[in-house]
Amino acid sequence: MADFQSRLTECADRVTVALDALLPRADGPEKPLISAMRYAALGPGKRMRPFLTIECGRMMGADERGLLRAACAVECIHAYSLIHDDLPCMDDDDLRRGRPTVHKAYDEATAVLAGDALQAQAYEILADPETSPDAGARAELVRRLALASGARGMVGGQMLDMAIEAGSQDVEIALITRCQRLKTGALIAFSTEAGAILADAGKDEWIALEGFAHDLGVCYQIVDDLLDAEGDESLTGKRTHKDAEQGKANFVTVLGIEGARDRAARLADQAKDHLALFGDKASSLRDTVDYVLDRQS
Ligand code: IPE
Ligand code: IPE
Ligand code: MG
Ligand code: MG
Ligand code: MG
Repeated sequence: MADFQSRLTECADRVTVALDALLPRADGPEKPLISAMRYAALGPGKRMRPFLTIECGRMMGADERGLLRAACAVECIHAYSLIHDDLPCMDDDDLRRGRPTVHKAYDEATAVLAGDALQAQAYEILADPETSPDAGARAELVRRLALASGARGMVGGQMLDMAIEAGSQDVEIALITRCQRLKTGALIAFSTEAGAILADAGKDEWIALEGFAHDLGVCYQIVDDLLDAEGDESLTGKRTHKDAEQGKANFVTVLGIEGARDRAARLADQAKDHLALFGDKASSLRDTVDYVLDRQS
């Protein structure tokens, strides 16, 4: 695992350097907007989604330069989703990645706009020929990211997250699963798809990766919910016990800590099973699953 951690850190550093170069520089009258975008996107996140893009693409032989750009695009969408998720009208959080949330460090209007601009930035990066010389591949990256982040993806899931409340007996596991798959799973799935598109992967590889991402995405959010319930704020860099306070329904509130932990472990095993097709080449992705399950931050 020490080896995996250094691989993840090395990738996170490369992504941060690349994002720094891709994001606009903060000067002129729009300075607060650009400065807020940079604050959100360059902050100390784990960069798990970029890591997935790079590792999946590498495993299937994609060009490194395109992978790094696609990885930056997915991180821009993720950073935008976090800015909006933290707003007072949503989860109303004041701490993110160990620092004040964007609307606290700046103001609400700037936070909304910085999220909007990071979303646009992601598509700008993907649509640029530097990402891939193949226009069809670029269009497919844009199309799939739009699907993963829009009404039938992350944003749809965020809507469900606001709508379903803990304690109401009729909140079913199926609805919670749908919420988690959309709000978190969809972008994680895109992270793997981006690698597949850039590697021009075959049908069997696509099917295997879809199964992998499907299970990993829900596992990722269950662990996030467990960390909210019993994690350490100094490690997660965000407030804990917020989900119960805000009456959110998730696997922890419905199945309890042990039940949620079992579910996450089962999903992690299933995710690894989907990688059989890739043999030893998928060892880094298998380590990623273990990391996701055991993470404390
Ligand atoms: C937090 O994502 C929000 C979820 C969708 C679970 P991460 O746990 O990946 O957050 P960072 O990017 O490392 O800050
Ligand atoms: C957020 O889920 C999912 C997003 C699409 C941003 P959470 O609301 O549980 O994420 P945290 O705990 O604030 O990071
Ligand atoms: Mg939320
Ligand atoms: Mg939140
Ligand atoms: Mg959470």
